[in-house]
Amino acid sequence: MMYKAGMIKAITLILSCLLWQVQGKPLFPEQEKNPEFWNSWAQRTLVNALREELNTNYAKNLILFLGDGMGVPTVTAARILKGQLSGQYGEEVQLEMDKFPYVALSKTYNTNAQVADSAGTATAYLCGVKANEGTVGVSAAAVRGWCNTTQGNEVTSILKWAKDAGKSVGIVTTTRVMHATPSAAYAHCVDRDWYSDGEMPAEAVQQGCKDISRQLIENIPNINVIMGGGRKYMLPKNMSDVEYPSEKKYNGTRKDGRNLIQEWVNRTKYKRGHYVWNKTDLLSLNPSSVDYLLGLFEPGDLPYELERNSSTDPSLTEMVDVAIKILNKNPKGFYLLVEGGRIDHGHHEGKAKQALYEAVEMDRAIGRADLLTSTYDTMTVITADHSHVFNFGGYTRRGNSIFGLAPMLSDVDQKPFTSILYGNGPGFKLINGSRVNVSTEDYQANNYQAQAAIPLSSETHGGEDVAVFSKGPMAHLLRGVQEQNYIPHVMAYAACIGQNKDHCTSGNSSASLATTFYLPLGLLIVASWLLS
Ligand SMILES: *[C@@H]1O[C@H](CO)[C@@H](O)[C@H](O)[C@H]1NC(C)=O
Ligand SMILES: *[C@@H]1O[C@H](CO)[C@@H](O)[C@H](O)[C@H]1NC(C)=O
Ligand SMILES: *[C@@H]1O[C@H](CO)[C@@H](O)[C@H](O)[C@H]1NC(C)=O
Ligand SMILES: *[C@@H]1O[C@H](CO)[C@@H](O)[C@H](O)[C@H]1NC(C)=O
Ligand SMILES: *[C@@H]1O[C@H](CO)[C@@H](O)[C@H](O)[C@H]1NC(C)=O
Ligand SMILES: *[C@@H]1O[C@H](CO)[C@@H](O)[C@H](O)[C@H]1NC(C)=O
Ligand SMILES: *[C@@H]1O[C@H](CO)[C@@H](O)[C@H](O)[C@H]1NC(C)=O
Ligand SMILES: *[C@@H]1O[C@H](CO)[C@@H](O)[C@H](O)[C@H]1NC(C)=O
Ligand SMILES: *[C@@H]1O[C@H](CO)[C@@H](O)[C@H](O)[C@H]1NC(C)=O
Ligand SMILES: [Zn+2]
Repeated sequence: MMYKAGMIKAITLILSCLLWQVQGKPLFPEQEKNPEFWNSWAQRTLVNALREELNTNYAKNLILFLGDGMGVPTVTAARILKGQLSGQYGEEVQLEMDKFPYVALSKTYNTNAQVADSAGTATAYLCGVKANEGTVGVSAAAVRGWCNTTQGNEVTSILKWAKDAGKSVGIVTTTRVMHATPSAAYAHCVDRDWYSDGEMPAEAVQQGCKDISRQLIENIPNINVIMGGGRKYMLPKNMSDVEYPSEKKYNGTRKDGRNLIQEWVNRTKYKRGHYVWNKTDLLSLNPSSVDYLLGLFEPGDLPYELERNSSTDPSLTEMVDVAIKILNKNPKGFYLLVEGGRIDHGHHEGKAKQALYEAVEMDRAIGRADLLTSTYDTMTVITADHSHVFNFGGYTRRGNSIFGLAPMLSDVDQKPFTSILYGNGPGFKLINGSRVNVSTEDYQANNYQAQAAIPLSSETHGGEDVAVFSKGPMAHLLRGVQEQNYIPHVMAYAACIGQNKDHCTSGNSSASLATTFYLPLGLLIVASWLLS
């Protein structure tokens, strides 16, 4: 019996290998059989590593790319997808983020949660302070949903530190611009869901708490670039949407009757400000004559990249391109937060294909930013807020479609399984009391929901550390295993903004680190030696 199953397995494997060969592609590239291939590749990498000098320049510009929910398995799977989309095996290619010279791990837990959410984590990597889940721009002394714990517990973000230092600042996201990640850059709110006063409990409004959209235009009034979705939270209730006038679910949500978009337009009218709500208008702007840009392309979140109508909505890469061209006119530099916000949504829905295409698009945006900036004066950091219970395995062969099947059947239920699986989520499904046979389903479809061990309507975040990739000035300080809130401290240090800038007066950060840190330390050691 066992023997027979083994034979069948072996024959299946041989047949599939033959099929692969017939399709004209060897199991793996021929050159990889030659040790010289691996040796010379590794030696080239080594020579480059030895040549690398620490970049202790001053960071004029700071860019943070935040892949929401982009855990390490997502990064690896996105790399394979990107390679396969260009006709390669996939595993061997480099993402743009793979080219960054420094990597650290970030511990993502919230003060009150082992497995984090996007709000508490955004407070960490933007404001430098760990916080409770569900809260943005407030310390852990604030309680989610309790308006009366806001005052006195506000913490400010690196975007504000940069603005206060005279830099231009921008926010670009594929979600609504008042979503958890971007909102921690400008708002102080005990509940991430208070997008407009229409989402707030009456009590909180009465107690004087402000919704996130209002804070977007009131707290830091001169944010130079704001791009993403979220029109409806800026518009009065009963006002219909410009793009979907007959869809009532897209009507404005504001109870206070304010039209925050019009207020923004009025305020920036004589300051070279532009409001756009579609791709045509965005791409027809001349960035050199725009100092303020509000681009709200959907009533809520932007569509998934795989579903985006490329004639109406811009891609993340297109938004980043325009943003940098507007921001980099400032001789004092800029801070830009870019969020690939819907990697997270794809995973929550169990739709790995959606999530991975979002991650690939963010990688493309990283490449574009790279072309428009220089590591000489720009520090770029890429990280995630938290991971997901997404993974891929199953001893798949080299070059196996990332959305494909493991090469064998389960030896327990004799059914095939996809390499990609979720620990929990909506993909859990039983038919006649047993696991679905995935061969009867279209597991390559955009909206296919990969199988999950535990049924949940929304797949959950994961608790393991996430990667932090960095390059440019002071990027080497982002290494090792770090608390997530360390990130903005390093970025601010590199740019001489925020709380730690004594090293900046000499104009050379490494030189003054020597005088402000190592010199006193040396004196202390000498003194203690003399005293002993
Ligand atoms: C603060 O608000 C919460 C709930 O909104 C309430 O339970 C609590 O008693 C309030 N605390 C104070 C000191 O008013
Ligand atoms: C939505 O907006 C339209 C146009 O202003 C209005 O006629 C309609 O009553 C609104 N519906 C809701 C539910 O607010
Ligand atoms: C908004 O629409 C609702 C229901 O459609 C209606 O009851 C309300 O009076 C309208 N409010 C305004 C300000 O038009
Ligand atoms: C914008 O300015 C126009 C013209 O000055 C004015 O009529 C309108 O009320 C203003 N709108 C808002 C929302 O401030
Ligand atoms: C884009 O927005 C502008 C300004 O409202 C409008 O005139 C134009 O028709 C819109 N274009 C498309 C393709 O919707
Ligand atoms: C994209 O949007 C345009 C304008 O609304 C529409 O005419 C076109 O059919 C859409 N394309 C797709 C593929 O949905
Ligand atoms: C699974 O489905 C495939 C395709 O319909 C079929 O060939 C195979 O026998 C099925 N396996 C089981 C265990 O039902
Ligand atoms: C489920 O069981 C019923 C009754 O045995 C059978 O008719 C049906 O085909 C089964 N469905 C599947 C998908 O196997
Ligand atoms: C900064 O100072 C260090 C040590 O004095 C020096 O090696 C380095 O070249 C300086 N860097 C710049 C950008 O001036
Ligand atoms: Zn999430």
